[in-house]
Amino acid sequence: MTAKIISGTEVAAEIREELKERVKKIKEKGVVPGLAVVLVGEDPASISYVTGKAKGAAEIGMFEETIRLPADTSEKEVIDTVVKLNKDKRFHGLLVQIPLPTHIDAENVISAISPEKDVDGAHPMNIGKALRGEPCPLPCTPHGVQEMLMRSGNSPEGKHVVICGRSNLVGKPLAAILMQKKKGANATVTICHTGTKDIAYFSRQADIVVAAMGSPKTITADMIRDGAVVIDVGVNRVEDKTREKGFRLVGDVDFEAVKEKASAITPVPGGVGPMTVTMLLMNTVEAAEREAGISR
Ligand SMILES: NC(=O)c1ccc[n+]([C@@H]2O[C@H](COP(=O)([O-])OP(=O)(O)OC[C@H]3O[C@@H](n4cnc5c(N)ncnc54)[C@H](OP(=O)(O)O)[C@@H]3O)[C@@H](O)[C@H]2O)c1
Repeated sequence: MTAKIISGTEVAAEIREELKERVKKIKEKGVVPGLAVVLVGEDPASISYVTGKAKGAAEIGMFEETIRLPADTSEKEVIDTVVKLNKDKRFHGLLVQIPLPTHIDAENVISAISPEKDVDGAHPMNIGKALRGEPCPLPCTPHGVQEMLMRSGNSPEGKHVVICGRSNLVGKPLAAILMQKKKGANATVTICHTGTKDIAYFSRQADIVVAAMGSPKTITADMIRDGAVVIDVGVNRVEDKTREKGFRLVGDVDFEAVKEKASAITPVPGGVGPMTVTMLLMNTVEAAEREAGISR
């Protein structure tokens, strides 16, 4: 069996077209959806992520502003900026690009964001609501994984999903999302991590395997049962002297071997990556819809 490729680029483009229409309807109600992005310092990867978010917001017709602060900005000054943006009615969504310089505690900054504007879905109150199955902005990467499964015809409902990785950013919130008694969820979820003695024992039982470890090519073909669906969240740099930059990106899954066994698989790059910013835009659109009185 050769797996169907689930293209995050295509799914993301489809969602962004839908978001464009939703933004038009919000504007008809006199509200312009707005996103504020706070960038502290000059980390090249962060600059590139922030640029992608700004571009994505502009393309769907949103107002976006990036607030750039120098690397030596104090934690208090960053929090003061967040508090000001919380009150700024032009913005329905607000995020602070992580990682922050080491003298700043990211948890303190995230906790200062108004939960209603927390479009990264990272505020502890929103994480708690996600676990309880209450309406809230869902964390973008796990929400993107759920959308990819649904839109590729691989609903997790009634399936056994094995998630490899238990980070607060991906593994844990994904488990919270997929275990809910809801449409697009209702899965039986197992989480594996470095304390799991035999990951293959669990992954071979999975209908859907999600790899979110940051460990290159760790999920091998012998760990996957025939016909399983494989979602690769991992993004790892491996040395490649044939490339201009000297490296290439690979996932946590041994793609070439696993694609011969799985029924569907996401590539890296072009898989989960493009979904993350798209779900951020979706959370911002939803926050603006609430202000515009549009219910969905
Ligand atoms: N595409 C996107 O938009 C996107 C977004 C976020 C993250 N990512 C990527 O996804 C990956 C995971 O990110 P993260 O933030 O969740 O990473 P993280 O905070 O480092 O967490 C990694 C998790 O995987 C587990 N793990 C690591 N190596 C393992 C192994 N060999 N066997 C079993 N478990 C292992 C760790 O277990 P312990 O808890 O036991 O240490 C931990 O729970 C990274 O490659 C990251 O770049 C991609």
